[in-house]
Amino acid sequence: MKYGFFDDLKREYVITQPDTPLPWINYLGCQAYFGIISNTAGGYSFYRDARLRRITRYRYNNVPLDFGGRYVYLRDDESKEFWSPSWQPTRHNAEDYSCRHGMGYSTIGSSYKGIEAHTRYFVPLDENLEIWQLTVTNRRSTKATISSFASIEFCLWDAQDDTTNFQRNFSIGQVEVEDGVIYHKTEYRERRDHFAYFATSAKGGSFDTQRESFLGRNRGWDKPAAVEAGQLTGSIAHGWAPIGAHQAKLELAPGETKQIVFILGYQENPVAEKFDPPGSQIINKKRVKPTLAKYLNPANADAAFELLRQYWDGLLGIFQVNTPDVHTNRMVNIWNAYQCMATFNMSRSASFYESGIGRGLGFRDSNQDLLGFVHMAPIRARERIVDLAATQLPTGGAYHQYQPLTKRGNNDVGSGFNDDPHWLIIGVAAYIKETGDWSILDEPVQYDNTPGSETPLYEHLQRSFQYTLDRLGPHGLPLIGRADWNDCLNLNCFSDTPGQSFQTTTNKDGKVAESVFIAGLFVHAGQELAAIAAHRGLNAEAAKYLAEVEKMDQVVRKHGWDGEWFLRAYDDFGAKIGSKECEEGKIFIETNGYCVLAGIGLEDGLAAKALESTRKHLATKHGIVLQQPAYSRYYLNLGEISSYPPGYKENAGIFCHNNPWVIIAETRLGHGDEAHDYYSRINPSAREGISDLHRCEPYVYAQMIAGRDAPTHGEAKNSWLTGTAAWNYYAIAQWILGIRTSLDGLQIAPVIPKSWPGFTATRTYRGVVYKITIERQGEGNNIALTVDGAPVAGNVVPPLTDGRKEVTVKAILS
Ligand code: BGC
Ligand code: NOJ
Repeated sequence: MKYGFFDDLKREYVITQPDTPLPWINYLGCQAYFGIISNTAGGYSFYRDARLRRITRYRYNNVPLDFGGRYVYLRDDESKEFWSPSWQPTRHNAEDYSCRHGMGYSTIGSSYKGIEAHTRYFVPLDENLEIWQLTVTNRRSTKATISSFASIEFCLWDAQDDTTNFQRNFSIGQVEVEDGVIYHKTEYRERRDHFAYFATSAKGGSFDTQRESFLGRNRGWDKPAAVEAGQLTGSIAHGWAPIGAHQAKLELAPGETKQIVFILGYQENPVAEKFDPPGSQIINKKRVKPTLAKYLNPANADAAFELLRQYWDGLLGIFQVNTPDVHTNRMVNIWNAYQCMATFNMSRSASFYESGIGRGLGFRDSNQDLLGFVHMAPIRARERIVDLAATQLPTGGAYHQYQPLTKRGNNDVGSGFNDDPHWLIIGVAAYIKETGDWSILDEPVQYDNTPGSETPLYEHLQRSFQYTLDRLGPHGLPLIGRADWNDCLNLNCFSDTPGQSFQTTTNKDGKVAESVFIAGLFVHAGQELAAIAAHRGLNAEAAKYLAEVEKMDQVVRKHGWDGEWFLRAYDDFGAKIGSKECEEGKIFIETNGYCVLAGIGLEDGLAAKALESTRKHLATKHGIVLQQPAYSRYYLNLGEISSYPPGYKENAGIFCHNNPWVIIAETRLGHGDEAHDYYSRINPSAREGISDLHRCEPYVYAQMIAGRDAPTHGEAKNSWLTGTAAWNYYAIAQWILGIRTSLDGLQIAPVIPKSWPGFTATRTYRGVVYKITIERQGEGNNIALTVDGAPVAGNVVPPLTDGRKEVTVKAILS
């Protein structure tokens, strides 16, 4: 069953039933001020860091799951009935409910007894605030007297402390109210120089700032006493729980519409200008007042919304396709690209599954995310690369995570995940292929954020490569360290103590366990590095990399091949993992996807065999599972992977992040049908019709879909913040549709289904607009290319030197 529909023209997903299987969310903001909003207006806001600058409070793992947010209430002052147009928190019988999640905004509303109301929520570009535009229309034949209420609950800034340290926190809350604007100033008296505010365009209304005065004793957000009574109390919070609530009276003639604007914002003041008058304890509001005056005017709010729309038009316009498959089109043109920007902005910090207080930015995660957003935000990609590289260790190794606020590597998860350094090579290669900006390689970048340690970025890549050569194991394969891409294959951990972290506990000296996956990654990264070196004229160095790549390729064939598929690893006893000899976990997806993606065994049939085995043993109708058979018990020598019940997460779940490796591998063998078939199995839009099973949003990828061993096979979890977004985008855009960036220019190498007559695409690349038509004339993948009518040898459009800003590219497939 579906809970809504795609409105592709407006780039919206329209939810028409509020009781979705899980909260279906969207992100507000794309620069520094961010919010999460669910389809029933749940969620919260923060400035830059979801843990340290949380603006509104949110209770994760609540009952019901999603409760608390940006709630609007309406009250019919004649009948005294009240309800929420967003359905939650009052859960009235909402007629014509809809939630339109769009690019950086959500509009949520419904009708109740002839009163129609919608709120549009968005964050204007370049501002640290969110705008709510509440529009109320009287569809009755008689006049309506309505009270409107809008409410938020402030967080006392540090979200972690806020949910734990009540002995202190119940006494520190402070607010000010001036000209009807509510200012949240907890800790402003001491070391904070920032505050939040909640304002309304409605004049002469009333307010509340103490939660208990608004809700009443022993009540929740579903039945606020002050709303029920129809009158806010003007409370001023001293300690306890500061909130912001505004009330305004609306007299609506039949057919009349009125709009109220609310602004929730964040403001910093220079330390010397915190108070006005100086020496007082009163917030200096001079920086906020002009902003308020501007956006409380609905015309200015509309104009800001229009700018946001144009911003997204521009970003998404960089790559647009028209293929015979609607699911491909809407994911590439709209939602997958949008999700890639969310993973770039949030990394893995704040979603409905990441609580915003946990992880820093992952080194491997952030490098891989680049694959999906570099074309939309090349300047920010460059910054991200330099930040990441500056946390690299002099050995070439990497901290597993870094903190975006301090930009320093964090030791929470330590280092020694031996795949990490290679992702930097892959991220940098993707950046240069997109931009042609070779200067990034000369950028001086520190190691471990230590001044004086700078080398050109290029040397970071050299050290990344060398890192593996310095850490080879008994078979000549890379030592795995704490873990490779699969954080849960913990071969040096051997943990038997409850609660110990699988990622940081290391009981073995790490000299034995090897990863065939890192070998595949090394081959891939080595080829990228060699191509970069060759481009810089460093031919001897390039040849050296290729020789190492060739050597590793041989080692993989000799010690990483199990007869019908690639092995996964060797454990601390030197025993095989992912082999027919194993009792469980005989075959794994990672090596079979990645080794083929890297080009191992393309010529001699190993690659084809590996993919055949993958299809035979791992493919399900909901996607490709991570391994088979699932581990039925805990293995001390394997770690977290065997801690999950069969079919979930890394224990034979469908880990959507690595499915695209197989998709790309299939394209490397020229298998367009197989590649697109796999792509479609996990494409959320193609799964919309089974929303009751899939449960997560049909417009974005989830990290995992339960595998065939799970009782809930087909159920997705952990939507939004996953490497799945970038990898699927990269697989469909660059490998199936084959519009691929390369060091030499834009390559056109589609490997599409045989039944497709072709497709068209528009791609802006290095300042030139490419209007591309692919036409199938035969069943193969051979390309005959013309550029502005002139035949071109090969499949790369040579860089234009004559100032053309738009070219027509035609490719005949045969
Ligand atoms: C999860 C992994 C994740 C790791 C590190 C594990 O519990 O299953 O997907 O990468 O934690 O955060
Ligand atoms: C999620 C982590 O963020 C990512 O780094 C890892 O590769 C996968 N889980 C697989 O364990």
